[in-house]
Amino acid sequence: MRGHWSNRWVFVMATAGSAVGLGNIWKFPYMTGVNGGSAFVLIYLLCVALIGLPLMMTEIMLGRRAQRNPVDGMAHLAAEAGSTGLWKVIGYMGVAAGLFILAFYSVVAGWVLDYVLRAVSGNFLGMTAEEATNQFSSFIAKPGELLLWHTTFMVLTMYVVARGVTSGLERANKIMMPSLVVILLVLLGYSLAVGDIRHSLEFMFTPDFSKITPNAVLSAMGHSFFTLSLGMGSVMVYGSYLQRHASIARASFYIVLADTAIALVAGITIFAIVFANQLEPAAGPGLIFQTLPIAFGHMPGGTLFATLFFILVGFAAWTSSISLVEPAISWITENTSLGRRNTSIAVGIIVWLMGVGALLSFNAWSEVKIVGLNIFDLLDKLTTNIMLPLGGLLMAIFAVWVMHATHAQEELALNDKHYRRWLFATRYVVPAGILLVFLNLVGWLPLI
Ligand code: PFF
Repeated sequence: MRGHWSNRWVFVMATAGSAVGLGNIWKFPYMTGVNGGSAFVLIYLLCVALIGLPLMMTEIMLGRRAQRNPVDGMAHLAAEAGSTGLWKVIGYMGVAAGLFILAFYSVVAGWVLDYVLRAVSGNFLGMTAEEATNQFSSFIAKPGELLLWHTTFMVLTMYVVARGVTSGLERANKIMMPSLVVILLVLLGYSLAVGDIRHSLEFMFTPDFSKITPNAVLSAMGHSFFTLSLGMGSVMVYGSYLQRHASIARASFYIVLADTAIALVAGITIFAIVFANQLEPAAGPGLIFQTLPIAFGHMPGGTLFATLFFILVGFAAWTSSISLVEPAISWITENTSLGRRNTSIAVGIIVWLMGVGALLSFNAWSEVKIVGLNIFDLLDKLTTNIMLPLGGLLMAIFAVWVMHATHAQEELALNDKHYRRWLFATRYVVPAGILLVFLNLVGWLPLI
C-alpha cells in the first residue's frame, strides 16, 4: 500500500518545500548577480509563468494519474494511452538527474551547515571583505571539512527519506516550511531597515537588455526548472501521493507563487545587504558565503541574524534534498523487496560518492575537467540546463499528444475555459519555449 499525504495542504507544503531550497537562496541571487541582474530576472519570471506553471500542473497530473513512481508511472500511462513503453525514459532520466543534483547540492548544503557553526560562534563579528573572501576560499580548499559536512547532510537527508512519506517527509515539511517563511520575513525587515533596498530593486527590476546572451537565456530557463523542481519526476512522485479530489491547478498556483516570492524576497534582501556594504554582486557560487558574513558582522544582532539565516537555508536545502532522491527511492522500493531503509542507505552511498567528486572540484581535483567543466559544474550544468528542460519537454509532449485528452481533463478537473488554456500552454508555449532556447544554444537560431 502506497503512502499518501494526510491532506492537500501537506502536499502543497511538501512540494513548495521541494521547490524552495538552495535554488532560491543560494543559486538565484548568485545567478542574477553573474548574469547582470534584471534581464536575467525578467526571463526567469517569464519562464516561471509561461512554462513553469503549466508544467507544474502537468507533472502533478501525470503523477496522480499514474499512482506509481516516475519510471513505472510513465510506462503505465503510456500503456494506458496505447503508446510505447519507451516513455519510461522520462522516469529514468529523472531518477538520474535527481541523484546528480543531490551530489552537488549536498556539497553546498554542507557549506551552509559549516556556516551555521561559524555564525553561532560569532566568527563574523567585524569581518572585512578580504577576511570573508579568504575565509570562504580557505574553507573550500580543504577537502576534509567539506567531506565531513557533505557526509552529515547526506545522513540527514537519507534519515528522513528512510522514514517514508508520512512520518518522514511530511513531518519534516510541516515543521520546516513555516519556520522558513518567518525567518525570511525577519531578514527582509532587517534589510528594509538597514540595507540599500533602492539599489537592490533597481538591480533586480530595471531591465538592461544588453545583458541578454544565449547563455543567460538558457541559464534563466534552466533555473526556472531547477527552482520549481520540474522535469525530473520529484513533483510527479509527490503528485502520486496526492489524494484524488485535491485541485491540481490551485495547488500548482500556490507552489509556484510561494517559490517565486521566496526567491525574489531572498534576492532583494541579499542584494540590499550587498549594495549597502559595497560588495560584489557577481561573486558567483560563493556570493552568500563571501558577502553576507561581512554584512552580518557589522549589523546589530548580526550573530543572531546570521545564525537564523544559515539555519533557514539549511532547512530549505533539507526539504528539497528529500525530494531529489524520492524518484529513485520510490522506483527501487516499488520494484524490489529491499525496503525503504536499505534502499535509502544504498542510494545515499552512491550519491555521497558522486558528491565527493563534486567537492574535490574545489581543491584536489580542480584540474579534472570533462567537456571543459569540473565535476561540480558538470553535474550542475548537465542537469539544470539539459536534463530538466528535456524532461519537461517530453512530459508536456506526452501529456498533450500521447495521453487521451479525456484522461488529462478528468485528472485536472478544470472547467472548459481553464482546460483550454492549459492545453494551449502545454501544447504550444511550453515546447516552443524550451526548443527555442535549446536551438539558440546550439547556434541554430539567432537570439530573438
Ligand atoms: N528546487 C530545489 C531548489 O530550488 O533548491 C532544487 C530541486 C529539488 C531541483 C528537486 C529539482 C528537484 F527535483
